Amino acid sequence: MGRALARRVKCTIMYATETGKSERFATTLCEIFKHAFDARVVCMDSYDVIQLEHESLVLVVTSTFGNGDPPENGEVLAKSLFEMKHPEKSGSANFSSSSYIRMSVSSEHGGHTDDKEANEDDNLTMESGPLGNVRYSVFALGSRAYPHFAAFGHYMDKILTELGAECIHNIVEGDELCGQEESFRNWAEAVFKDACETFCLGDDINITEATGALSNTDHSWTPNRFRITPIDNGKDADVCKSLATIHSKTVLPCRLMERTQLQSNESSRQTILAKLNTQDSSELQYAPGDHVGIFPANPPDLVDAILSRLHNAPPPDQIVRTEILTEVSTPLGSSKNWTQYEKMPVCSMRTGLTRFLDVTTPPSQAFLQLLATLTSRDIDKERMELLAKDSKAYEDWRYDLFPNMLEVLDQFPSLKVPPSLLMTQLPLLQQRFYSISSSPMECVGEIHATMAVVKYRTQNGAGLEHEGVCSGWLNRCDIGAIVPCAVRAAPSFHLPEDQTLPVIMVGPGTGIAPFRSFWQQRKVDREMNPVPSHGDRKGWGEMYLYFGCRKNNIDNIYKDELGQMKAEKVLTDYFVSLSREAGQPKVYVQDILFKNAAMTYESVVKRGGHFYVCGDVSMANDVTKTLEQILAHYGGMKPEEAKNFVLKLKDANRFHEDIFG
Ligand code: 2AM
Repeated sequence: MGRALARRVKCTIMYATETGKSERFATTLCEIFKHAFDARVVCMDSYDVIQLEHESLVLVVTSTFGNGDPPENGEVLAKSLFEMKHPEKSGSANFSSSSYIRMSVSSEHGGHTDDKEANEDDNLTMESGPLGNVRYSVFALGSRAYPHFAAFGHYMDKILTELGAECIHNIVEGDELCGQEESFRNWAEAVFKDACETFCLGDDINITEATGALSNTDHSWTPNRFRITPIDNGKDADVCKSLATIHSKTVLPCRLMERTQLQSNESSRQTILAKLNTQDSSELQYAPGDHVGIFPANPPDLVDAILSRLHNAPPPDQIVRTEILTEVSTPLGSSKNWTQYEKMPVCSMRTGLTRFLDVTTPPSQAFLQLLATLTSRDIDKERMELLAKDSKAYEDWRYDLFPNMLEVLDQFPSLKVPPSLLMTQLPLLQQRFYSISSSPMECVGEIHATMAVVKYRTQNGAGLEHEGVCSGWLNRCDIGAIVPCAVRAAPSFHLPEDQTLPVIMVGPGTGIAPFRSFWQQRKVDREMNPVPSHGDRKGWGEMYLYFGCRKNNIDNIYKDELGQMKAEKVLTDYFVSLSREAGQPKVYVQDILFKNAAMTYESVVKRGGHFYVCGDVSMANDVTKTLEQILAHYGGMKPEEAKNFVLKLKDANRFHEDIFG
């Protein structure tokens, strides 16, 4: 038997998550650590930083948001740690995402000279930092599709060391694109062993038994632990209220008021402008540059097909309560009770699978392991177990087929899935973020989103057609439909406060989305204040937009609006690159930016302007390189100096990125 709980070493597992994955990993980790420690899981935003110096063992499981920033529920702790390390900067408004990125980059590559010197000084004081009694380790989730991969995990690792905590196992990264679950399993097992050793618990603990949770992450599901109970005359769940409860965040109802197809009819692709009415949810406040998180609905055909394949399921529209058998302590001992499963509201199974659960992301290896126990043919069982255990086979399968729940059921015909398993073990359907395409002052009571309607075929184009859950839904749902929304403030993608400074915006394709909020805001601001001033500068700073598309008549999506904004002098000018215009060479945004190099140098360097780039990773990298070339060319800088100049622009909050995968 393990030690009595009261004598156990405390272990705090803290997570920050955008999609719930870090939370799931943290919960699994807790199952393991409970075998030897007094372990608890806590979300970073419910953690009081004052407690930190009294901790013995802290395990951090965190993802990274967008461009190297913390997930929303990690922001406050990240800032508190920064202020603990740099009390002199406490309350500084300039604490931007680049602070995290710089630190994580410097921990990987040694950083540029200024940082290195600072780090060497810090090392001298490391032992005597406030967290001198704390041991820690970090698992950093991320996606290599982004340039600042797992940067926030690295930031946590670095700042904990700097504050004097001792790392008991080196940080491990988990790449969403490849082998994340395996990386987690390896890290969790190793960190558990190291922690037992560090706290001299080795002899008391059966490591194999403790880490058993790893081979069966969803171990908590057994047919006798969960049940679905029909509720006669029950009322279906209020979708927004239920989403708010299960995701512990504010989710408010908006209505789809208008949908415009922005590409021409001849295009093989679709981009929509979705206008949402927020009048019933006045708390949804935002600034231009912020993001809207939209909670979508799964396609009805897919949900119907899954429902028809379930084993012993109630009728799809029967209201049900999803229950878990829990043990409750009473003065006379303990008793078992059925209580409502906290992540699933009372609702019909159709509503559950449509609004609350993710039925389109391929199942995790742990979930496959569980499903394998529910097959009745050896051939299905063996294949599923292989996928569950062999990470290479799993990644190939996932990448080639990207199977949704229905396709999994089709592939393994002897699989009999009980409804309570789906209602409790599927991941939650997550919000999708979009850069808001409107200004709250120009479009009062509205949020606009510009989105590409995602469609792709699996197996490198030869397989089944899949569509993006959220863009597909918004492209199909009725005008007037309720759209559950949350707003997420962009950490550092806002217009400069000083209105006299130049603004350069680069955004091809749907990367133009946030810039529409900027030009709308500029239009209103100009009407309110024709001649702004700042110190001895007077008048509106220039506003330039660089947009890229394939063909002028196909996907030059805001052509008319741009023309009008220029005519009204809201935009000083705009430039459009065409990459597939018949008979013309391929031109990208960075090419036209380079053509205007002198003007760009003047705006950014000489006049202290702000530079914005929005769109996919590879484009953003290419644009950044082009900016460095412009700096090198016109500023006479060496390549390394130009790179450092861009880093300094980031630190000064004058280079802003809004990047998607
Ligand atoms: P392409 O599709 O012809 O490659 C919006 O998607 C526009 O961005 C398209 O014109 C697309 O061109 C272009 N684009 C694709 N990759 C890019 C990159 N790395 N840099 C700049 N533009 C890019």
